[in-house]
Amino acid sequence: MSTPRKVTKAIIPAAGLGTRFLPATKAMPKEMLTVVNKPIIQYAIEEAYEAGIREFIIITGRGKVSMENHFDYPYELADTLLKKNKLAELEMVKNTLPSDARMYYTRQGEPLGLGHAVWCGHTITGDDPFAVLLPDDVVCRGKNNGLAEMIKMYEETGKSVVMCEEVPQDRVSNYGILKLAEQGAKGSRLSVNGFVEKPKAEEAPSNYGVVGRYVLSPAHMKVLETVKPGKGGEIQLTDAMAEIAATEGYSGYISTNRRFDCGDKVGFQMANLYFAMKDPYIAERLQPFLNEMATEAAKVCKM
Ligand code: G1P
Repeated sequence: MSTPRKVTKAIIPAAGLGTRFLPATKAMPKEMLTVVNKPIIQYAIEEAYEAGIREFIIITGRGKVSMENHFDYPYELADTLLKKNKLAELEMVKNTLPSDARMYYTRQGEPLGLGHAVWCGHTITGDDPFAVLLPDDVVCRGKNNGLAEMIKMYEETGKSVVMCEEVPQDRVSNYGILKLAEQGAKGSRLSVNGFVEKPKAEEAPSNYGVVGRYVLSPAHMKVLETVKPGKGGEIQLTDAMAEIAATEGYSGYISTNRRFDCGDKVGFQMANLYFAMKDPYIAERLQPFLNEMATEAAKVCKM
């Protein structure tokens, strides 16, 4: 087998309507919802950049221009901040995108599913492997960056890799579920021979669910071109992955990093609290408030 190419490109599907966050997302992209002071898409870009990604392909849709503006250089704002000597703020504005990163924007047009959204990036990925990051999933980085580990696995083996975690039985039908090639995990790695998109709990082949981080071989784009609509009548990325698993094999990377599902109101609030508590300035004031709230809630429960 020839040595797999390096993974330096990532597709970020960002065309979704964000209906679960209406009315906030009526005129604002859901990817621009902020966790503390950063839009959720910026967390994904920072994580991918740290893992070695330099070309970002954003799959966008109508009404999402503020996302493009966010990663652009705001000349007037930068100039004003400089004149006012607000240098820390100026750094923040400049750092939304490192200077050696490239952004490409392409529109999905019709909401035909995640598989179709990913396929929309095919002219830019060409014959190269690529990462996919779903910005709704905010993945924390501790000492290790899970995506960087997955890229290393791909470059060593030539097999595509998905991030996964064990999910409770009642949440299985919300995820792409792994069919394991062998029982049990070897460290953080699983050998995978298939996938099923959002099965009923009783039909699920395992309790490992796909989290929104993927490192995919270029062959996925060819399969996505012809794959038939699946679950929900949509072109599913999971169905293309199942086809590739049968021909090229596949790996699962079990994440040890905390992850927040920011596509869901509860996960989004948790992410805000988690990142707020990481900021000493906020934590000092927030902690007493949280304690107070917990005491109040405990009183209500006893009543
Ligand atoms: C998508 C994928 C699913 C995956 C999930 C991870 O579903 O289709 O396979 O497990 O992302 O977040 P969605 O959450 O967009 O419905």
